[in-house]
Amino acid sequence: MKEELLKIESETLANIQKAGDLRDLEQIRVATFGKKGAITNASKVMGSLTAEERPAFGQMVNQLKNQLEEALNAKWADLEAKEQVAAMAAEVIDVTMPGRAASMGKKHPMTVVTEEICDIFLSMGYEIVHGPDVETDYHNFEALNIPKNHPARDEQDTFYVEGGHVLRTQTSPVQIRKMEEGKLPIAIVAPGKVFRSDEVDATHSPVFHQLEGLVVDKGIHMGHLKGALNTLAKSLFGDDAKTRFRPHHFPFTEPSAEMDVSCFACGGDEKKVSGCRVCKGEGWIELLGCGMVHPNVLQNCGIDPEEYSGFAFGMGLERIAMQRYNIDDMRLLFENDVRFLSQF
Ligand code: DAH
Repeated sequence: MKEELLKIESETLANIQKAGDLRDLEQIRVATFGKKGAITNASKVMGSLTAEERPAFGQMVNQLKNQLEEALNAKWADLEAKEQVAAMAAEVIDVTMPGRAASMGKKHPMTVVTEEICDIFLSMGYEIVHGPDVETDYHNFEALNIPKNHPARDEQDTFYVEGGHVLRTQTSPVQIRKMEEGKLPIAIVAPGKVFRSDEVDATHSPVFHQLEGLVVDKGIHMGHLKGALNTLAKSLFGDDAKTRFRPHHFPFTEPSAEMDVSCFACGGDEKKVSGCRVCKGEGWIELLGCGMVHPNVLQNCGIDPEEYSGFAFGMGLERIAMQRYNIDDMRLLFENDVRFLSQF
């Protein structure tokens, strides 16, 4: 019996020694400890021994088992380390291979246009401010002279948020927030996202961008408004750009106007205008809404309309970006396809 165990010991240790890789070693493990392995078979002999013989034999089997396990584990660690070193050596690094250049991002056309317009107003001494995208009904409508059942609310249906808040439909509430701070005079522009429950198509999106402007001081009149907006038009579209103001209605300004700029493709030139695709033969392109701040709005913000007056304007930024870059579908500005964006 003992000879049998010694034989298992010497043969198994020799095999472990000879094992060339982890797969060999795994076979040895199965042949030794597996269901039909040598150690398992040796243990079965126990049944045929007398009660006196059993403890000594059992101890011998256990010792052998431990010894072989240790030898197997040591060899396993050794072979594993060797295989790792071999794998690393096989991986050849060509230090002369050129690196992969990190691709540089670019500014989104909307960002470029927004920054360009902000810069124009910064150069005129305006401050750039921001308001929240989620607004109170009061700031978005009420304070802007648009009470609960005013028809202007129909055109600006929006997304209502819990707690009586709305996703702002316009950047005009930033006017209110600025005036509420109580510091005069004011000269600000406020760019940002606005939201309306519009269906998506080539010229509509439920989220788009506007830029709001507000000036409040003593003695501000329509001439200041025209001066500022003419400067904007010429800076954006060149010195030849002309503007025209058409009477319009906005609840928060009185009087109100829409400002058009002469078409930058045909210049409104009599000979070219009829076939012009940019202005569709009009010679003019609508750019923004504007007007003198309504006395009710000033009053809502604690400003005395007898002492102070102001002008305001608001424009959509997508349209300017689309015209500037000849983009015919607004969805392209939101899909963020890199193939589109990398053209700018
Ligand atoms: N908030 C208006 C809109 O979304 C745009 C606008 C018109 C803003 C006239 C103004 C303004 O500040 O004076 O249609």
